[in-house]
Amino acid sequence: MSTNDFDPAQYKARQVQTWDDVAAAWDRWWPTIEKGAQSLSDYMVASAAIKAGHRVLDVATGIGEPAFTAARAVGQGGSVVATDQSPQMLEIARRRAKDLDSANIELREMDAEQLDFPEASFDAALCRWGLMFLPDLSAALDNLYRFLRPSGRMVAVVWSEPAKVPMLRLAGEVIRQHMDMPAPPPGAPDIFSLAAPDSLQNAFVASGFSGVKTEYKTVTLEIPSSQDYANFTLDVAGPLAAAVAQQPPEIQASIHRDLEQAATQYASADGSITMPNETICVSGTK
Ligand SMILES: C[S@@+](CC[C@H](N)C(=O)[O-])C[C@H]1O[C@@H](n2cnc3c(N)ncnc32)[C@H](O)[C@@H]1O
Repeated sequence: MSTNDFDPAQYKARQVQTWDDVAAAWDRWWPTIEKGAQSLSDYMVASAAIKAGHRVLDVATGIGEPAFTAARAVGQGGSVVATDQSPQMLEIARRRAKDLDSANIELREMDAEQLDFPEASFDAALCRWGLMFLPDLSAALDNLYRFLRPSGRMVAVVWSEPAKVPMLRLAGEVIRQHMDMPAPPPGAPDIFSLAAPDSLQNAFVASGFSGVKTEYKTVTLEIPSSQDYANFTLDVAGPLAAAVAQQPPEIQASIHRDLEQAATQYASADGSITMPNETICVSGTK
């Protein structure tokens, strides 16, 4: 294997480490994340036609969304199985389930490409900002299709192209000015892997889903200052945060300074930052 070959097993091991490393930061910044993203979980649950009594699967749940929103919708007569491959993310999700007294959520450490559930055992499946990290998306979607009962709904959300996602694009641009970010080998997924308009929709169709539909939603990051924006991004943006954390302190400081500066184009008179970011929402029915 040449050094440019993509090794999915190695990539996934790195992903686990990356998300484990930022899990505590996700917990810390959760009010900021959910101020923008809760509306997306609400939309996903509605679009998946989730109702009281349903059994729902959430893939790559992180610290628990959209699983917790789905758990409220299904009520005590229903249940949610929320999966992720990062033990640290799940640890925080478990604590949140306890704090929120959510007895109808089961959290399980599972690779999204190795899920193992009986056929037709869920009414709906959800994934918020996870599918773009999968090396074998079609195998994962084929499985999810199998786990759904007939007429069950799948709803997934991924980031749109960089020009429409300033929250992540600015970070990528600034980081590349300060350090080498080798292009990923062909086949390696990344945060924008499914950003082309029809990518995810075509994958849903290929796995057998019918009535497949794409909608675009805006998730607005609202944060008190450009300094907070730089702190936030370098804390929570998994793969980018991981790359920066390996740099010497002076490079990290330069990245932080320039990121702060770059964010000022989104500043109001009081210095607060408002950044609209586009997500692609795809839904389909079994
Ligand atoms: C951007 S976070 C999204 C978390 C959550 N769904 C949310 O929207 O708040 C991406 C999550 O995908 C998970 N992930 C990445 N690759 C995965 C895989 N192969 N199997 C399961 N989870 C994976 C990461 O561990 C991380 O928790």
